Amino acid sequence: MTRGFAIALTCLATLVGFTTTTGAETLIDARQRLMRDMQEAQKTLRSAADGSATLDADRVKAEVRRIVEAAETLQNLFPEGTLDDPKSKALPAILAGKADFDARLQDTQRTALMVLFAQPQGQKALAYAVSDMNATCDGCHTRYKQPGQ
Ligand code: HEC
Repeated sequence: MTRGFAIALTCLATLVGFTTTTGAETLIDARQRLMRDMQEAQKTLRSAADGSATLDADRVKAEVRRIVEAAETLQNLFPEGTLDDPKSKALPAILAGKADFDARLQDTQRTALMVLFAQPQGQKALAYAVSDMNATCDGCHTRYKQPGQ
């Protein structure tokens, strides 16, 4: 299990590239867009977990990949000087806690990958894995994001 997980992580990591921002998109726009992207993927996975939708393995993989890639890029998108911008909901506490912040994004990646492994085991396992992943989002928002959307 541990070994399989490490291999899957390595495979996914090689697929991850740094997403360059285009045109007038600011770094803050980019990180908010990637967060919304993770939210969309999360909603899709949640609908499979609660039984309101049926997703095939490829679709689950695609949604997990969206989250893993976004969370990888996001680790680079909260530099000093961008944490007190009025357009951002990020809290300045990120700076002092950057190692913890990055570890939380890696936790999101790890738990997203667990969703991939849970899917063949049925809906109960899937629901458990998806809620585990959601907890990593909420845990970080509580600590490092202003309340509200
Ligand atoms: C390591 C911390 C961290 C993790 C993990 C994290 N977020 Fe966030 N999230 C933030 C911060 C900080 C902001 C505020 C960004 C800003 O406004 O500059 C944010 C903002 C958001 C937003 C608002 C985007 C907007 O349009 O303003 C959404 C939606 C969101 N996150 C969804 C998620 C989801 C879904 C997950 C898990 C799959 C997740 N986040 C995981 C820290 C995190």
